[in-house]
Amino acid sequence: MKIDLSGKSALITGGGRGIGREIAFKLASAGCDVAICDIDATTAEATAKDLEATGIKSIGIAANVADAASVEAMFKTFIEKFGKMDILVNNAGITRDGLVMRMKEEDWDAVLTVNLKSAFLCCREAARPMMKARSGTIISIASIVGLMGNAGQANYAAAKAGMIGLTKTLAKEFSSRNITVNAVAPGFIKTAMTDKLTDDDRAKLTNAIPLERLGYPDDIANAVLFLASPMASYITGHVLSVNGGLYM
Ligand SMILES: NC(=O)c1ccc[n+]([C@@H]2O[C@H](COP(=O)([O-])OP(=O)(O)OC[C@H]3O[C@@H](n4cnc5c(N)ncnc54)[C@H](O)[C@@H]3O)[C@@H](O)[C@H]2O)c1
Repeated sequence: MKIDLSGKSALITGGGRGIGREIAFKLASAGCDVAICDIDATTAEATAKDLEATGIKSIGIAANVADAASVEAMFKTFIEKFGKMDILVNNAGITRDGLVMRMKEEDWDAVLTVNLKSAFLCCREAARPMMKARSGTIISIASIVGLMGNAGQANYAAAKAGMIGLTKTLAKEFSSRNITVNAVAPGFIKTAMTDKLTDDDRAKLTNAIPLERLGYPDDIANAVLFLASPMASYITGHVLSVNGGLYM
């Protein structure tokens, strides 16, 4: 079955680069119209322009998903452009790594706000048009670290584990309106986020992964495309691990 999302509209947070950008092109390849939200206005605009060149409708929206007023304005712009919302992908995220004993409170707060509160704010806004339409799908990009923990990432692991709890709860709250809510938990994926790893750390990691490689953004985008498609219409509250077997 070929996945056809023509006539659908999606909003991807943090879509200006990395995994979010890859998800945007994957959904666009199925005919979906896609809005790119990013705190970096330049990459949001550039990605939207590249997406329009593929023949779909797109806009770049400069927004900070950690800020309620900014999120509200972003959804207003989105609905003005597309009229409805079919797919929300909560992808924006940051890391501020450090062992707990040395972690600054501001690094804890920043990671929890940008990675977790943002998903709450965006889901709350998306629920309005989706409930009205009695249809929609929300996909949040969590992490393997939210499932297994990781020394040096207490803030990030707590935020991603929180995102999984949020996903399961919203799956229950929104199910009567035919809205599905799922998460994808990537393992270690080749992006700017993992470019920070030392060569030694990367080699150790690769040895520990049963499929013997880091993931590509495309691996995550394929999982999101599946969850956003009618093929996944009976799946909700699920966390789909895409990690090369690193955590089972
Ligand atoms: N790369 C990995 O190995 C990996 C693994 C597991 C999960 N993830 C998750 O996947 C998602 C994407 O990661 P990535 O590797 O592509 O990262 P990235 O840093 O390349 O991209 C993140 C994007 O989010 C944007 N962003 C950051 N803060 C924002 C804010 N407040 N408002 C709006 N946009 C904001 C950035 O500008 C950037 O474009 C993140 O949620 C990350 O936690 C990544």
